[in-house]
Amino acid sequence: MSIHIGAEPGQIASTVLLPGDPMRAKFFAETMLADVVCFNKVRGMLGFTGHYGDKRVSVMGSGMGIPSLSIYVNELVDEYGVTTLMRVGTCGALQPDLKIGDIVLAMSASTDSHVNRLRFGGMDYAPTANFDLLMSAHEAAHVLGIKVRVGGMFSSDTFYEDDPDWWKLWAAYGALVCEMETAGLYTLAAKANVRALSILTVSDSLVSGAAATSEDREKSYSKMAEIALAIAE
Ligand code: HPA
Repeated sequence: MSIHIGAEPGQIASTVLLPGDPMRAKFFAETMLADVVCFNKVRGMLGFTGHYGDKRVSVMGSGMGIPSLSIYVNELVDEYGVTTLMRVGTCGALQPDLKIGDIVLAMSASTDSHVNRLRFGGMDYAPTANFDLLMSAHEAAHVLGIKVRVGGMFSSDTFYEDDPDWWKLWAAYGALVCEMETAGLYTLAAKANVRALSILTVSDSLVSGAAATSEDREKSYSKMAEIALAIAE
């Protein structure tokens, strides 16, 4: 057991999928994995290990935001020896040609979070996806017939901003989408010398104001997990 994860040693696979929502972790485990065992219920942050074909894979909620995700990533890596972390989460579109249900592979994560400014004494760090995972995910998506976009995105510390136009500067500099975790994931993975990739599904658009229906959610959210499972080792 670690402070926030109740698993015994060996109960967590070396590859972990990380949706933000623990109930989505349960849904992915129940619908996509076989021989599923629940390894964590601490704070309701459900985690499961099962098999996808002959691959042993875990899926666990990360919670929302860099602080929550960072607690779990630190413990997964340091206490359970996890070597591949794939966020499978939702995001808001910042570009007009991205629609609800579209999938983005996050190449780099700009952020307004100060966790890295604190860590690096006021200097900037460039959180970046693992290239092998990014390339494999791109290839797997092609084989699966799932269209993906690849590019930079933005991890925010706030979901509710005072300024309704806050995102336009990031959009002008090419950020495809926003969410709240990837900059933290990529930084911690780099520090631990493990692999990380965020595979994101557009759940809403800051450009058009559109939001996913429950039908959209069910149909499209499994696609990002399919890509992640296809490249799990
Ligand atoms: N903002 C921040 N995080 C998000 C969003 C958003 O619009 N959509 C999904 N995650």
